[in-house]
Amino acid sequence: MAISAKMLDFASRASWIRKMFEEGAKMKALHGAENVFDFSLGNPDLPPPAQYLTALAEVMAEEKPGVHGYMPNPGYPAVRTAVAAQISHEQGVNIDAAELLMTCGAAGGLNVIMKSLLDPGDEVLILAPFFVEYNFYIDNHGGVTKIVNTACDFSLDLAAIANALTAKTKAIIINSPNNPTGQIYSREELAGLGRLLGEAGRKFGTVIYLVADEPYRKIVYDNLQVPSVFQASPNTILVSSYSKDLSLPGERIGYIAVHPEAADKMLLLGSMALANRILGFVNAPALMQRVVARLQGVTVDTSVYARRRDLFCQVLREAGYEFEPPKGAFYMFPMSPIADDAAFVGLLQAEKILGVPGRGFGMPGYFRLAFCVEDQVIAGSAEAFKRAMAAAKAL
Ligand SMILES: Cc1ncc(COP(=O)(O)O)c(C=O)c1O
Repeated sequence: MAISAKMLDFASRASWIRKMFEEGAKMKALHGAENVFDFSLGNPDLPPPAQYLTALAEVMAEEKPGVHGYMPNPGYPAVRTAVAAQISHEQGVNIDAAELLMTCGAAGGLNVIMKSLLDPGDEVLILAPFFVEYNFYIDNHGGVTKIVNTACDFSLDLAAIANALTAKTKAIIINSPNNPTGQIYSREELAGLGRLLGEAGRKFGTVIYLVADEPYRKIVYDNLQVPSVFQASPNTILVSSYSKDLSLPGERIGYIAVHPEAADKMLLLGSMALANRILGFVNAPALMQRVVARLQGVTVDTSVYARRRDLFCQVLREAGYEFEPPKGAFYMFPMSPIADDAAFVGLLQAEKILGVPGRGFGMPGYFRLAFCVEDQVIAGSAEAFKRAMAAAKAL
């Protein structure tokens, strides 16, 4: 066999999301797209804000020799200055352009971070339910994933995290607002986590980095604020992107920011600049860097997601589902009415509803619904959700 056995194994069990997406395509061909309630994919459907087209036009008007050339691997200095100013404002901690790299989305950024931190066998903690790709990103760089469950309301279980830390732990990845739960970790939880990592690092004579993956930071509800991770721990690496808050996931543009007091900061930044290059990205897309530099502080109209969240909560509540209303991001993560979440997703599918079983996120017994879809898809699914609940109760 010419193909890597490991990749064949990954491909065979890689993604419930992809599987449901493919099921959805078949169902839409069979029943018509308007008759299928597809909540499987977290692909933002809102257009980018109006300012995006203006910024794009301005950047295109700047066409001159050299604008398509190679650049310093961490990105254009002027772009990094603009992004660093915004991050300093959001985090309440001043960071310099030199402490920030532009990346190919948050996914590219996470790979750059893992490449820079991990030696073979080093451990990285992730919290279930998790964004499934973390497993692959850690493995890509020889790391070992250790999964720790969150508490029953999906907040941080600090005691469980403390138990999982070892002398081999290099980092913990957290994601707030969270995909798939919509949970936002509080200032107190983050401070507790920062303390815990500091204590464990002192005990083991190591540094344990807090990697905060924040692509949903600006998609929050009920005027909630996402607390600053930089204020929780100096050994923090922030990674984010414009995929969700500017609706630009296909443009592959994001960034990494390193806390100004992080341990081994200069070595870390140097390693990350090299990783950005040798992972094959070389640098983040030139045109998009210049565009997003002009869009600091601009966000899609999040009131649309807020309206859909309220509508979806009403639909699910009336159908008898149990769930924590999401505080941010655009996912619902209700409890499956039967223990077997994959079987329940099958019952939903029989009603032409597409969701993803919780086991795809390391948390069986739940299912995920993405609400980056038109309001009428949510409203139209109400009776189908009731029928699926009735079918589950009849089992
Ligand atoms: C939690 C989380 N992290 C990272 C990513 C990757 O985002 P990007 O498109 O910026 O690579 C996603 C995308 O869905 C996500 O949900």
